[in-house]
Amino acid sequence: MLFQPRTDHIGLDISDHSLKAVQFIKTLNGRLKLVGLSAQYLADGIIKDGTIKNTVAFTKAVSQLLLKPTWGKFTTNLIVASLPESRTFIKMITVPSSNQDIAQAVKWEAQHHIPLPLEDTYWDWQTIKSTPNFDNSRQPILLAAAPKDIVESYNQALNQTHLTAIAMEIEAQAIVRSLIPINQVNQTEATMIIDIGGDHTSLIMFSFDTIQFTVSLPISGRAITQTVADTIKLDATQAELAKIKYGLDPSAQHGAIYKILQNMTNELVHRLQESLVFYQEHFPNNPPATSIILCGGAANLKKIDQLLAAEMKIPVRLGNPWCNVSANVNPRPEADALSYTTAIGLALRDLI
Ligand SMILES: Nc1ncnc2c1ncn2[C@@H]1O[C@H](COP(=O)(O)OP(=O)(O)OP(=O)(O)O)[C@@H](O)[C@H]1O
Ligand SMILES: [Mg+2]
Repeated sequence: MLFQPRTDHIGLDISDHSLKAVQFIKTLNGRLKLVGLSAQYLADGIIKDGTIKNTVAFTKAVSQLLLKPTWGKFTTNLIVASLPESRTFIKMITVPSSNQDIAQAVKWEAQHHIPLPLEDTYWDWQTIKSTPNFDNSRQPILLAAAPKDIVESYNQALNQTHLTAIAMEIEAQAIVRSLIPINQVNQTEATMIIDIGGDHTSLIMFSFDTIQFTVSLPISGRAITQTVADTIKLDATQAELAKIKYGLDPSAQHGAIYKILQNMTNELVHRLQESLVFYQEHFPNNPPATSIILCGGAANLKKIDQLLAAEMKIPVRLGNPWCNVSANVNPRPEADALSYTTAIGLALRDLI
């Protein structure tokens, strides 16, 4: 059809130390075809805790990322970018169903939940369909907010690179889109998704086909490498190699790395258990968490899935960020799929 609007865009995952981009196009028979995939390392100080600190270096890195893809070729300048999990807010809340002015009721509730003055944020909400065992007197609402300064700084920086941001998304929304198979609404089970990245780790509690809340967790790929480096006096490169080679395998090198990281993994487990209790207490009508899905580059840490499964007593698996993309359309690039989870989800927005 001649006038069919273009729906393809580049999903751009902006992190403190990396940029990742993915683009699909929809073929005439409605299938998704990967056309480009790319990653670029960002040196210290370009982005800090989600804020662009060096716009010149940032725009240069974005240009490199898109002009020299790791795989394929990008064919658009339209962007859907991620907003940093640590600076954004997404949560399921409820307002009284009897309230005539739902917008006003949500605004009143939002002020109590969003940890910034509302006028300093772009915030949005949508009603969520109530489920059979849900308290009828309350209307579920998914509430999301992002600081205005971050959204505007990303927008301006992308414009300088002649890119147009058609949307910015909270990372959890993109992660869920790539990891949860579409058309598989599960009313009886909840999933905990854990994105273990280079700088940040976050938990997404997902049930009734919706994000319920997200939590930041105290572990990261960098912190793991740093702990290994500090404890056995290795430089950063050697520590990174040791981390990748031995991971949390208790039988490798007599469990040397496993033991070094034990405080960190104990703390992670403790915070996951706390989050689970929070979920049970604050979402009593929701189904129990029966699975954990891991994503993010540091989810490749050897045996982390087994360790978490044993401690949490919930089955754990590595996510498949390609699960909503037809397998036989084209070959998958040899890239670490788990670290592209967010970028793939952003690229899939409005395509699935
Ligand atoms: N095989 C592996 N074993 C252990 N860690 C790994 C492995 N491969 C990659 N990592 C780690 O994954 C991390 C990068 O993950 P990812 O690409 O998801 O981070 P990011 O998206 O840039 O950061 P963030 O999401 O925290 O902002 C690095 O710390 C890297 O050391
Ligand atoms: Mg990430």
